[in-house]
Amino acid sequence: MRRKLAAGNWKMNGTRAALGALEALSRAHADPSVDILICPPATLLAEAVEAVAAFPLAIGGQDCHAEIAGAHTGDISAEMLLDAGATAVILGHSERREAYGETSEAVRAKAKSAQAVGLTTLICVGESLTQREAQNTLDIIGAQLALSIPDTSTAENCVIAYEPCWAIGTGLTPTPAQIAEVHGFIRATLTARFADAGDMRLLYGGSVKPGNAAEIFGIGDVDGALVGGASLSPADFSPIIKTLEAAL
Ligand code: 13P
Repeated sequence: MRRKLAAGNWKMNGTRAALGALEALSRAHADPSVDILICPPATLLAEAVEAVAAFPLAIGGQDCHAEIAGAHTGDISAEMLLDAGATAVILGHSERREAYGETSEAVRAKAKSAQAVGLTTLICVGESLTQREAQNTLDIIGAQLALSIPDTSTAENCVIAYEPCWAIGTGLTPTPAQIAEVHGFIRATLTARFADAGDMRLLYGGSVKPGNAAEIFGIGDVDGALVGGASLSPADFSPIIKTLEAAL
């Protein structure tokens, strides 16, 4: 039985002023029937961990370097995330693939490093609008899965997030049939490679809001969501968590 996961990606949003709302969110979900993860900017990691210490809410990073230490100005290693109290890290987000040219091979190296120190990796895959329109979606996702996921992945340390690039921050979402097709494809692809693929969690991400969460969480093989904009406000994220709990 896969435990559902509601994950929030704050991206480059949030200063210490946001910590009060984070604590309120964790207080409001003190005994959740799903896993809750918030990935704030790196500057807030340690304080976020402290703010939610009394609650089951988990804190994660948004990226890490493939190496544990060294001359990499501006970068953060998986060990540093762990040291700050993070238990997970988002890797291969399309914003990083696009803005920094992160390849799937680079994502795999980061994921291997993160898993080696004991972090759960949320590995993101997703097609662009051009790729979808050219009917290349499954080829693109298949290649990203093959190259981005390290062999060290298990249902314990690896979560896959399907985030179509064109649905991120746009208010557009795929149809339930489109999400079901990709999630089914991801499950089948993982099953061919990992013995415990049936227990690996698959998240959908891209314009998840309180208003569309129930429909999305009703789709087979959707084990939760990776939420951007709506995770910034407890007034939006809390109903999404409750909807996921109700979908169990
Ligand atoms: P939005 O929920 O703002 O569309 O962002 C999704 C996302 O990129 C989460 O990683």
